[in-house]
Amino acid sequence: MNRVDGKVAIVSGGARGIGGESARRLAEHGAKVVIGDVLEADGAATVQAIRDAGGEATFVHLDVTKAAAWENAVATAVKNYGGVDILLNNAGAYIARSILETTQEDFATLVAVNLEGVFLGTKICAPEMMRRAQNAPVGSAIVNISSVAGMVGSRNAPIYSMTKGGVRLFTKSTALEFAKRRVRCNSVHPGLIDTAMGGQAMSRPGSRRSVDEMRTAFAQSHPIGRIGAPRDIAAAVVFLSSDDAAFITGSEFIVDGGVTAQ
Ligand SMILES: NC(=O)c1ccc[n+]([C@@H]2O[C@H](COP(=O)([O-])OP(=O)(O)OC[C@H]3O[C@@H](n4cnc5c(N)ncnc54)[C@H](O)[C@@H]3O)[C@@H](O)[C@H]2O)c1
Repeated sequence: MNRVDGKVAIVSGGARGIGGESARRLAEHGAKVVIGDVLEADGAATVQAIRDAGGEATFVHLDVTKAAAWENAVATAVKNYGGVDILLNNAGAYIARSILETTQEDFATLVAVNLEGVFLGTKICAPEMMRRAQNAPVGSAIVNISSVAGMVGSRNAPIYSMTKGGVRLFTKSTALEFAKRRVRCNSVHPGLIDTAMGGQAMSRPGSRRSVDEMRTAFAQSHPIGRIGAPRDIAAAVVFLSSDDAAFITGSEFIVDGGVTAQ
């Protein structure tokens, strides 16, 4: 099934992890993908993997906190592929410190990447997405990667949780502002996913338990009995980006193996 055939996607933080897998899946389902990230080598490798599988992809250096870098990503998508239909705001930063231990610098980093990055991506990609949407059967789609920590509080990463809660509500405001312009916007809320960031979330410095013991404990804390894989999130991203999700906007899609059902 080619769910996003002929569409053009920009994926922030698309070099690796959830973003990398989403870029590969979008390409597999027929989209042309612009991968934006600060990690040049990983980004180039993901582009190569997509091309080797017969898909189309381009890497751009994108620091999501810089407006000029977003403008360059949109210009690249327009020049190479004719426009932008899908924006995946996936790039994220994670710092696990208590409220008492968090510095103003930590706070500024989390707000810059997780909130300002999503705002800038949305603001700068939207005009081109609205233009493309006029002639598309359903329209364009923004998918914002939030977290289960954007649904409930977090003991380990309270400021991260604060930013992801912001992404959740910004998604709904975006959906309302853009609905008549034929741009949908939804958030995805992953549970613990096996990526570099997931490893950071699982590590408990000073713990007497080994890494393997920690992984087993985290797997058991998920009702489904395992932690998530990037493909679990990528599947939701492809669905929400596709015309199958034509009537879905402003919604929150929880993909967490049942963690927040408890
Ligand atoms: N892994 C998890 O357990 C988990 C759970 C819930 C939500 N998430 C969210 O999923 C998203 C992807 O995380 P991941 O798990 O794949 O982690 P990851 O660390 O593997 O990937 C994050 C990517 O974002 C990029 N990035 C960071 N800062 C950037 C910036 N300023 N500009 C551009 N790119 C930047 C990184 O270079 C990296 O490629 C994040 O928004 C994260 O908060 C992850």
